[in-house]
Amino acid sequence: MGAPEASSGDHVPDDGFVAVAADDELWDGEMEAYDVGAAEVLLVKLDGEYRAFDGICPHQSVSLVEGTLDGATLTCRAHEWSFDARSGAGVNPRTACLVRHAVRVRDGQVLVSRTPLPATEPAH
Ligand code: FES
Repeated sequence: MGAPEASSGDHVPDDGFVAVAADDELWDGEMEAYDVGAAEVLLVKLDGEYRAFDGICPHQSVSLVEGTLDGATLTCRAHEWSFDARSGAGVNPRTACLVRHAVRVRDGQVLVSRTPLPATEPAH
């Protein structure tokens, strides 16, 4: 196991995943931001499943947790760019996508990969 990069108290398994929340911490339709290493990751729970994205807007780096989640549409508070919170795909504009992180649920904990998924890889 390498040196943990997450804040103290985080459990850092040796596979690059960081425990960010208890499995029952978010309600369906909620989102929350967590520090994962040096980056902020946005965790979204929809239809009982978790998705994780880089926590900053691809437009001008405003924290996405300050935005709104309406159904599966995540909207940045700053200039109202919106994204599909299931896939990270851009809704408006369509060309701007969120950077996804892999998520696992294990032993009652939600774990997020510190390393983003490649842009071409499917969300699950
Ligand atoms: S910073 Fe998010 S829409 Fe401009």
